[in-house]
Amino acid sequence: MQFLHNSVNLCFYNKNIRNTTTMTKNIDWSNLGFSYIKTDYRFISHWKDGQWDQGKLTKDDTLHIHESSTALHYGQQCFEGLKAYRCKDGSINLFRPDENAKRMQRSCQRLLMPTIPTEMFIKACKDVIKANEKWLAPYGTGATLYLRPMVIGVGENIGVRTAPEFIFSIFCCPVGSYFKGGLTPSNFLVLPEYDRAAPYGTGATKVGGNYAASLIPGKIAKERNFSDCIYLDPTTHTKIEEVGAANFFGITKDNKFITPKSPSILPSITKYSLLHLAKERLNMEAIEGEVYIDKLDEFSEAGACGTAAVISPIGGIQYKENFHIFYSETEVGPITKRLYDELTGIQFGDIEAPEGWIIKVD
Ligand SMILES: Cc1ncc(COP(=O)(O)O)c(C=O)c1O
Repeated sequence: MQFLHNSVNLCFYNKNIRNTTTMTKNIDWSNLGFSYIKTDYRFISHWKDGQWDQGKLTKDDTLHIHESSTALHYGQQCFEGLKAYRCKDGSINLFRPDENAKRMQRSCQRLLMPTIPTEMFIKACKDVIKANEKWLAPYGTGATLYLRPMVIGVGENIGVRTAPEFIFSIFCCPVGSYFKGGLTPSNFLVLPEYDRAAPYGTGATKVGGNYAASLIPGKIAKERNFSDCIYLDPTTHTKIEEVGAANFFGITKDNKFITPKSPSILPSITKYSLLHLAKERLNMEAIEGEVYIDKLDEFSEAGACGTAAVISPIGGIQYKENFHIFYSETEVGPITKRLYDELTGIQFGDIEAPEGWIIKVD
């Protein structure tokens, strides 16, 4: 498999597509939620006969794929989620996109799909951002441009086998908070009768099947006025794994940062960034370990973390008959707030980032 670098395409795009001055009107940037908004351009590349083509930006927001595509029948697809951030000086930051590229490579390998080279992944992200720059919110509004890369198996096929062809695409849309309320704590529900992933299944990869499995428990949680579900480990159902589409972290009463470790958790880039920041910048002990659902008393604060969720404080967790409140149901705890300020300060370019974390889009 080979990546053909496309300098011709890049020149075309620079001259004709980039629109850096016009901001999109009619968007209430400070009150955006997490919904699809159509932007102008998306990137698309096709894999055939053993290689990805050079790819291009297109205005077409639909995919025309074969009815027997493995992505439709056998869930042969994966995706990523990362954000572009507008800095105070008007420049644009990407936060650790190489980690998204690597995770997508692992997802592709797990589902027997061709991988996207890191360089191709990052260049495609930059092209999409630059072509849609007017959709990137001004600094200070809290909104960002969310990028959704995906790889899907397409082409004629009927048996359970890998597809003959693939599509790699990236679209983007402006987003605000994922969980309603942003830094206002939200409550979560444990439904031990539902798992999102199996012990040696696909939980550690970002594939659609994991999310399909979470739709019913997520719906039940929302109907009961919780923000989402907390998933327990699928083997013993005694330990916290995921918080909806985010990882869990807790701050113990003796000031340790703890986040669950398990082969069926999605390795969150935000979580690994927080482990680093807690240790290096907040001088805390930072641990990946076990978080038992019946030992929540050890924690003074808890939160959900992820690209979309950023850091969302957890007010309380309902488990069976018990509703456990952490710091407060209405206010963010002090350590969670410090981590939030450090992380978002780095992402928006206000605080110096550890080496290699920020890639400028220029
Ligand atoms: C199931 C799940 N866990 C955790 C995360 C957080 O991962 P990241 O911090 O890399 O966005 C996500 C979002 O990508 C997710 O979908």
